[in-house]
Amino acid sequence: MELYLDTSDVVAVRRLAEIFPLAGVTTNPSIIASGKRPLKVVLPELQQALGGKGRLFAQVMARDAEQMVEEARKLRAIIPDLVVKVPVTAQGLAAIKLLKQQGIPTLGTAVYGAAQGLLAALAGAEYIAPYVNRIDAQGGNGIQTVKELQQLLTLHAPETKVLAASFKTPRQALDCLLTGCESITLPLDVAEQMIATPAVSAAVEKFEQDWLAAFGAPGF
Ligand code: E4P
Repeated sequence: MELYLDTSDVVAVRRLAEIFPLAGVTTNPSIIASGKRPLKVVLPELQQALGGKGRLFAQVMARDAEQMVEEARKLRAIIPDLVVKVPVTAQGLAAIKLLKQQGIPTLGTAVYGAAQGLLAALAGAEYIAPYVNRIDAQGGNGIQTVKELQQLLTLHAPETKVLAASFKTPRQALDCLLTGCESITLPLDVAEQMIATPAVSAAVEKFEQDWLAAFGAPGF
């Protein structure tokens, strides 16, 4: 599987890259806007924070296919092997097709339904990002959508991977992986919740207290 962080926080990526087997970092325009630093500054820093390994993802802003392709070229001038995120609109599907013809890898983003994701895969996207929590928030079933999309891709577009996104809890992420989806991107708080539960800290604390009570000092 591939595990990504969904963030533009360079310091956090550097820290978590020591702990997690990160495949790379995904961003979106809102994430970049929240850091208030331009992509041409942030992307190279993220690449460095990953130790030069791993894939970076950044999203086009244009609504028109030709302009999306132009923006994709500009993003790839910053990071040559960047995966370009393209919202799966009608124009986005046209852009994914054009970018595929030019050998530029894409991720179909803002995916709220399995049919939408399948179309992006058939257009040539390398990854499809269904928005699990946002689908749930709309009254849908995010995990079920991922499951259907995964099955459809396995049957009809086996070269495309699901890269599930928009998680609010570790449980959502695990349920998603249990459907067979190959990759996920996690916001920092969800990634950190996976290792820092209060029960784990309490258990480690108790081991130390018991040891000190018996032997008076740490060490063997
Ligand atoms: C990924 O492609 C999305 O940009 C992102 O995961 C959306 O997450 P959110 O619903 O928490 O904003």
